[in-house]
Amino acid sequence: MFVTRRDRNLLTVCLVMSALFKIIAGLRMPQEPAKFVTASLRASKRIFDEPDVSLAGRTSLITGANSGLGREAAIKLCALGSKVVLLCRNPALGEAAVKEVKAKAGPNGGSVSFVPLDLASLASIDACVARLQSEVSNVDVLMNNAGVMAVPTREQTVDGFETQIGVNHLGHYYLTAKLWNAGLIAPSPANGNRVARVVNVASTAHFFGELETAMMDNDLLLARPGAYSPWGAYGNSKLANVLFTRELAARLRKAGRDDVVTFSLHPGVCRTDLWRHIAGALPKVPRSLLPVVGLAALPVALPLAVPVATAALTFTKSSKEGAQTQIYLAASNKLDLAGSSGEYHDNFKVAKTSDSGRNPAVAAWLWQQSEALTGAKFDGL
Ligand SMILES: NC(=O)c1ccc[n+]([C@@H]2O[C@H](COP(=O)([O-])OP(=O)(O)OC[C@H]3O[C@@H](n4cnc5c(N)ncnc54)[C@H](OP(=O)(O)O)[C@@H]3O)[C@@H](O)[C@H]2O)c1
Repeated sequence: MFVTRRDRNLLTVCLVMSALFKIIAGLRMPQEPAKFVTASLRASKRIFDEPDVSLAGRTSLITGANSGLGREAAIKLCALGSKVVLLCRNPALGEAAVKEVKAKAGPNGGSVSFVPLDLASLASIDACVARLQSEVSNVDVLMNNAGVMAVPTREQTVDGFETQIGVNHLGHYYLTAKLWNAGLIAPSPANGNRVARVVNVASTAHFFGELETAMMDNDLLLARPGAYSPWGAYGNSKLANVLFTRELAARLRKAGRDDVVTFSLHPGVCRTDLWRHIAGALPKVPRSLLPVVGLAALPVALPLAVPVATAALTFTKSSKEGAQTQIYLAASNKLDLAGSSGEYHDNFKVAKTSDSGRNPAVAAWLWQQSEALTGAKFDGL
């Protein structure tokens, strides 16, 4: 059959359109779309370079530190002198990250070690905290960084939680509560530190979150038929990071605990492994047809390649660039610790959240759900 160039172009346009529709259909419309888009496109490439910051004598824990933003943050905090403990689920990746962090932090850096942690298992978190009790005397920085994004179909953690809320929020809630109850989240007097920091890595994807709906349906785990969508669940989990931070800060203030502060942040849209599930949102093309589709796509794809790649590089960050706001929140001497505790940050500044991210009723409900599902309460808060 004779196929003209025009036919090929038409076929390519159809394929690209259907891929886009598939992706868009999988996406949930964000609340306040204009704010979401502008917040997502701000990609400052600024690097944290505050002089006279030393973390010598301090201890930092970082979850999901074997790749992406967590590994970059580990390198910097270690280079600034901190003892850094990488909390990772895969021992081989954790040990490899220890070597890389040590090498990149340089000879004047602090120490680095690895402790296993699977946030998808409360038993694993218990074991991690038990081990930390014998390995560290206190935690100056807890960086709740690990995450999974847009898992294509509803999956569950060991304890039966929907995976994204389970790993991204409930696992971190439980870890923080257990460390708190063990008395570990506290500043070390070394280096004059008087305030411990809990840094929660959230996202502008919290604009997708609809925890009000989950609250009305009493369905944080999205167990109702049709309640689950890959981006909706991710948005809920990132909104939970924002609200957990606000509620924890409010409770710390009320209890007069000005020695512990907490922040959430959006790192930027970053070129990390987090995007691993995106391929699952593309239409499936039979392997045998891939060369045909590839060839057909060339005439349209080639002219678009340069502008698309340029836009992608302009509006996204490398892992190193993306890690800078969480490094700043963990290490800066210039930060208004008390004043900005509980706030959401973006590109080194306090930023506005979605309306849901400031809803105290949802924050209170989430806290109560987190207590009930994990069985952990923060002593005294
Ligand atoms: N990249 C972005 O564009 C972007 C934008 C906004 C927010 N964020 C947030 O930034 C944080 C870091 O993500 P990233 O971009 O650096 O992605 P990444 O390179 O994929 O890192 C995620 C880390 O989380 C770990 N992890 C996943 N499930 C875990 C579990 N059950 N227990 C313990 N660790 C687990 C991963 O471990 P394995 O290597 O074993 O899988 C990995 O080390 C996430 O919270 C993400 O939501 C990222």
